[in-house]
Amino acid sequence: MCRHRGHSICAEPKGNKRRLTCPYHAWTYDQQGKLVAAPSLDDGDYIDYAEWGLKKVHVETWQGCIFIALREPTEKALAARLDSVAPQMLPLEIEHMKQVAQSTKIMNANWKILVENYHECCHGAGNHPELSAAMDLDGMYEETDNPDRFTEFYGGGAPVQPGMVSLTKDGQPASQPLLGEYGRGRPVPDAFNAGFEIWPMLTKGLFSPCLWAPLWGVHGRGRGVDGDA
Ligand code: FES
Repeated sequence: MCRHRGHSICAEPKGNKRRLTCPYHAWTYDQQGKLVAAPSLDDGDYIDYAEWGLKKVHVETWQGCIFIALREPTEKALAARLDSVAPQMLPLEIEHMKQVAQSTKIMNANWKILVENYHECCHGAGNHPELSAAMDLDGMYEETDNPDRFTEFYGGGAPVQPGMVSLTKDGQPASQPLLGEYGRGRPVPDAFNAGFEIWPMLTKGLFSPCLWAPLWGVHGRGRGVDGDA
């Protein structure tokens, strides 16, 4: 957000630039976020450019994913937490994946309804029988002594029934294994699942060596039933 009147600076969803120029009054920032130009407002005239750089956010990477937090995390690093709850992710080597498709769906609903629906998988047996034939719903909530398992960091993908390896109708692979060590010949374990999740907003990745690897999030905007989301 621009430090002048708060206009959004990044107009495109991706790309790169040597300078970021606000589309409103053309304040311009360098790649470190330092204010370098403001039309009709020379440095030192009324403001000191050094005091009007972009606000910093905390950034951390894990397995090729970039995570942004508006405040400095107070506990141990995000990467360590995800390593702890989702060790099954490591052999997938998702940092080498390539994006093949992207889609955005705008839902005219309270975002918390969507998150609830996604997580309360007990609706699956009655409403998604084909999916439920391969998915091991009970396995999603298995007991664990990992203290990180049920915090805001959650590990685990979409578990498949014993004897199956993928969420296809017959539980068999829909392609040859593609990801990481499995793509190089390591046998895919029985009932394999891998993924991670960060609460309270749903930032989630689900990964299968054989079929799919979506990475997605639900981001609320507007008013929820108990306040802004
Ligand atoms: S809001 Fe960005 S230059 Fe004015």
